[in-house]
Amino acid sequence: MRTDKSDILTWLRNSEDYVSGQQLCERFGVSRTAVWKVINQLKEEGYTIESVSRKGYRLVESPADAYSESEIISRLQTKWAGRTLHFFESTGSTNPDAKRFAEEGAPHGTIVVADRQTAGRGRRGRSWESPAGKSIYFTIVVRPEFEPDKASMITLVVALAVAEAVREETGLSTGIKWPNDVVVNGKKICGILTEMSMTPEMNEIQFLVAGVGVNVNQDSEEDFTPELRGRATSLKMENGRQIDRAALLARILRHFEEDYDLFEKTLDLSGLQERYEALLLGKDNRVRVLDPAGEYTGISRGINGMGELIVEKEDGETVLVYAGEVSVRGLYGYT
Ligand code: BTN
Repeated sequence: MRTDKSDILTWLRNSEDYVSGQQLCERFGVSRTAVWKVINQLKEEGYTIESVSRKGYRLVESPADAYSESEIISRLQTKWAGRTLHFFESTGSTNPDAKRFAEEGAPHGTIVVADRQTAGRGRRGRSWESPAGKSIYFTIVVRPEFEPDKASMITLVVALAVAEAVREETGLSTGIKWPNDVVVNGKKICGILTEMSMTPEMNEIQFLVAGVGVNVNQDSEEDFTPELRGRATSLKMENGRQIDRAALLARILRHFEEDYDLFEKTLDLSGLQERYEALLLGKDNRVRVLDPAGEYTGISRGINGMGELIVEKEDGETVLVYAGEVSVRGLYGYT
């Protein structure tokens, strides 16, 4: 029944005209009663579905901010990203969930989505506030066939996908703080936590999980913890309107799939570098590199094909900063 619901909703969403009960029965190999039950279930969930005798059904409107497994599936336009989907109203953190599914054999592109996380995790051991009904929290499993030293580039690929999808969906102009924070008007709207699992011999990647958190419909600064105020914002706060999370998530996945496929062809960022650099904040400006081995400042000159930040130091030396534990700041403000 669950698959039928997603399938029927997808079919209705993608049809410009009425869909007859007969068409749905034949397409999904179910009885008329089964179709009718699913339609009623969707209506109960708040979908406005018009039924006209001899014509069939037509989806008029989805409930406001519908965010469920079937709603997300019905919006997917991908070949592999998100095609296996696990949706939780509430979970600890989608990253360990995704790792567990991957260990059990989940296919490339599997995603875990939650409306709320009770133990959301950020980078550097920080936590990630994850209240219900406001944000996107998801983790995607990828099964790369490349060497572990290429893995850090995936985070840049995800950041690019989010930045471009958010721009298209909201009209806001997005930037990327290297390597992977997505920023709007100088404040963070998205964080990405990538984790890698190696084969027992430790020479190959078994899978990667990339966890993405996007601040979508927080109404004001009050919705963020005191430490984040002034540094984080939401899409709604920036453009003044409620954003459809399912539509945005589907768009992020479509971009990610395209960008990942491009990345896989060359196993470097050559196909994405120009678009990434167009969004890179602080390019040709002074940055401070917080390297555990010693802090220094220089001018950011963009990224190379491996996703490393090119920094020209005052003494003329050019340093390639690897996207590991190093943090880079603009000299003023959050970015
Ligand atoms: C950061 O510190 O910038 C990274 C934040 C990553 C948050 C996302 S939300 C979905 C996934 N599950 C988690 O617990 N963390 C990531």
